[in-house]
Amino acid sequence: MRAAEWLFAVGAALFVIGIGFVVVGARAARQAPAAARPAAATPPIATVRQLMLGVVEPAAVVVFESVSTTVTKEGTEEKAPSTAAEWEAVGAAAAALAEAGRLLMADGRAVDRQDWTRMAQGMVDGARQTLAAVAARSAPGVFDAGGALYTSCDGCHQQYMR
Ligand code: HEC
Repeated sequence: MRAAEWLFAVGAALFVIGIGFVVVGARAARQAPAAARPAAATPPIATVRQLMLGVVEPAAVVVFESVSTTVTKEGTEEKAPSTAAEWEAVGAAAAALAEAGRLLMADGRAVDRQDWTRMAQGMVDGARQTLAAVAARSAPGVFDAGGALYTSCDGCHQQYMR
């Protein structure tokens, strides 16, 4: 074999080996994220009961009591947020409920991945509906969203509270 043929043969061999490295490298890159996935970084601290008493109930009271209609002999009294600060307080409570709904779904806290998660998601949805109503400064919207929220509380308690 002449020198030029040798060089060609060596070059071709290196090329084939090079492709081999590219293929192996691409396969390794595809597998890397799964292998490197970290364990649950933030394991839950509060029990469900503590979340309910410490976060959910106080926030829900703010939302539920923000809009109401009281009918007496003297007439009808409508209650609704009026100042920017009052609207902000309802929005903050709704945001706390939305986040608390996600905490209920967290690994290590969720009781199951079926009804529990669905009802916790119902709470998130009701809270987001409340947030949208607050953004629109709609008292009737907050009232309706409060109904959706209450349905999620009630449904989950009937099934899981003992
Ligand atoms: C995904 C399920 C779930 C949702 C949604 C939920 N809860 Fe609960 N809640 C529970 C469970 C389970 C308990 C019982 C915890 C315990 O005592 O160990 C509880 C307990 C409570 C308690 C304590 C009751 C008592 O007297 O012992 C309050 C208050 C409460 N929830 C309020 C609410 C409110 C208000 C909402 C809606 C805004 C709500 N919860 C939504 C599951 C849920």
